[in-house]
Amino acid sequence: MRDQAEKLRAKIEQLNNGAQSKSIAVVSGKGGVGKSNFSLNFALGLAKTGANVLLFDMDIGMGNIDILMGVTPNHTIVNMFEDDLKLQDIIEKGPNNLSYIAAGTGLSRMFKLDFEKFNSFITQLEELLQEYQYIIFDMGAGITEESLQFIMSAQEIIVITTPEPTSITDAYAMIKYINIHESETPFYLLVNRAYSEKQALSTSKRLGNAVKQFLKKDVRMLGNLPDDRVVLKAVSHQMPFLLYAPDSRVSRAMLKVVDRYTENAFEDKPTSSSYSFIAKLRQYFIER
Ligand SMILES: Nc1ncnc2c1ncn2[C@@H]1O[C@H](COP(=O)(O)OP(=O)(O)O)[C@@H](O)[C@H]1O
Ligand SMILES: [Mg+2]
Repeated sequence: MRDQAEKLRAKIEQLNNGAQSKSIAVVSGKGGVGKSNFSLNFALGLAKTGANVLLFDMDIGMGNIDILMGVTPNHTIVNMFEDDLKLQDIIEKGPNNLSYIAAGTGLSRMFKLDFEKFNSFITQLEELLQEYQYIIFDMGAGITEESLQFIMSAQEIIVITTPEPTSITDAYAMIKYINIHESETPFYLLVNRAYSEKQALSTSKRLGNAVKQFLKKDVRMLGNLPDDRVVLKAVSHQMPFLLYAPDSRVSRAMLKVVDRYTENAFEDKPTSSSYSFIAKLRQYFIER
């Protein structure tokens, strides 16, 4: 008994001393609002600051991060589970040497795995956290019981909405749903495809006020990205817009968002350790 407790303590200490890694889930209510483009370019923006970043496409079975980067992954999460590969072995390199894990296509039963496989997956993820300061999960559309558990385990959640009323109400519903299950995790809000600063501001106010009033929770405003045709062009060229058009409005706005995020603009940032992410994953997936 004592032996085990000591081992656990050592492990926690080791984790707390390791690279302070942060797991961030990028979600939305409505689909097609720009999650994948945001996740990819945000990851590249963070990497530009010198951080070691891992981009994790969690849109299992319908992943498209690799397409947005114009690369063809050798391995994906889908074949990691099918072929019993190690998580470490499926990390690929994208533009600017960005580390990413492709979701793959065709399979949707990733988490319907036996206990042992999933336990091993989480242990490997735990090891990975030592190497990266940021792990960004592009959560894909919709919400399954399994993806919800992933979202709830993340240390921070970035919610993407456009100024469209339907997108705002869906984002609110998503926040409410997550909040019911996990009320501690901080939410950040990013308004995408805004036509003006004014419109972006009124969008974030509307959503922020609703969350404050009805869920008694503060949302952290991460800023906004303009509606910019450059995004469409970059997607067509299969290049992240930050690399395709670094001087475009949307790229400059993205760098501002990264600055805001990294410059400790959010003072009460919780000192959550990488341990809590893994501990929660274990709790949600295994100890049920
Ligand atoms: N800031 C933007 N300006 C213009 N078009 C955008 C912007 N963000 C996203 N889009 C458009 O929306 C499409 C869907 O984006 P995507 O990132 O794939 O959304 P999601 O991952 O939420 O489904 C893109 O292919 C692009 O055409
Ligand atoms: Mg997507």
